[in-house]
Amino acid sequence: MPDPFEDVDAASPEMIEIIAAALETRAEDSSMLPVLDAYLDALKVPDGGQIVDIGSGTGGIARRIADRFPACSILGVEPSTALTNKAKELAGNRPNLTFSIGNGANLALDAACADVVILHTVLSHVPDPKPLVAEATRILQPGGTLVICDADFSKAMMGVVPGDPLGSCADAFVDGSVTDAWIVGKLKPLVKDFGLTVKDFNILNRVITSGMGALVWVRMSSTRLVSSGVIGQPLADALEAEYLRRAEAGLLYGFLPFVTLIAIKPEISLESVID
Ligand SMILES: C[S@@+](CC[C@H](N)C(=O)[O-])C[C@H]1O[C@@H](n2cnc3c(N)ncnc32)[C@H](O)[C@@H]1O
Repeated sequence: MPDPFEDVDAASPEMIEIIAAALETRAEDSSMLPVLDAYLDALKVPDGGQIVDIGSGTGGIARRIADRFPACSILGVEPSTALTNKAKELAGNRPNLTFSIGNGANLALDAACADVVILHTVLSHVPDPKPLVAEATRILQPGGTLVICDADFSKAMMGVVPGDPLGSCADAFVDGSVTDAWIVGKLKPLVKDFGLTVKDFNILNRVITSGMGALVWVRMSSTRLVSSGVIGQPLADALEAEYLRRAEAGLLYGFLPFVTLIAIKPEISLESVID
């Protein structure tokens, strides 16, 4: 079964709700915010600047960006109608934040329209990242900044003993809900192939020891395995109950490294030199 993030609208209504809730939980999770804020702190965007968040989901990241850069315009572009509708509902009264439906591989945006383009946990969920990086590069103005933040899902784990049942949930999540668990190691040559210069490559660990931040690993994997008949609902219920028990008992331990690559589009493109 393919990664549901590749085409969220094709998922069941139950799965879309799980995805939307998980994205919202993660965007505010205290274990996630340092990852996000580390690259937002590093960004210098002029007043009146344009920031484009490709694959904006329910807009949780875009809302934080909008609040951090009130003098800039933030556009979230997202292929899922269901998630975009939620993003618009949740945007609140933010005059500098808009959302539109679109595919990151083929954006209805002018070349060189953006000061900053952000791909936040998107490339690990697409079959081919190149068209998205190509489009991000096209819409960046010369000197503009591309931020790619993604999880190293190849190292995702949860549990406190070998063979931990919650560890199986983390494995099953990566197996069924991530397209390329190894994408972060390929990011540097990926952006260099589009003429961008890597300015920073930073790794921060997300360690989940409380709250609902990793419940999505249990919910998405068990929903998929119940619907395909591999496990029964009683086991799915028990796994979720065990997650909640561990969170209550302080025994939760989820681990996921996040890589952030920051790259710059050169001021003078090769084409203009040749022309
Ligand atoms: C894990 S979610 C991340 C959402 C959001 N960036 C966040 O961090 O809250 C991955 C997102 O990528 C979107 N996506 C999948 N394929 C895409 C594509 N070709 N272009 C743009 N977004 C895409 C999905 O619809 C989903 O919203």
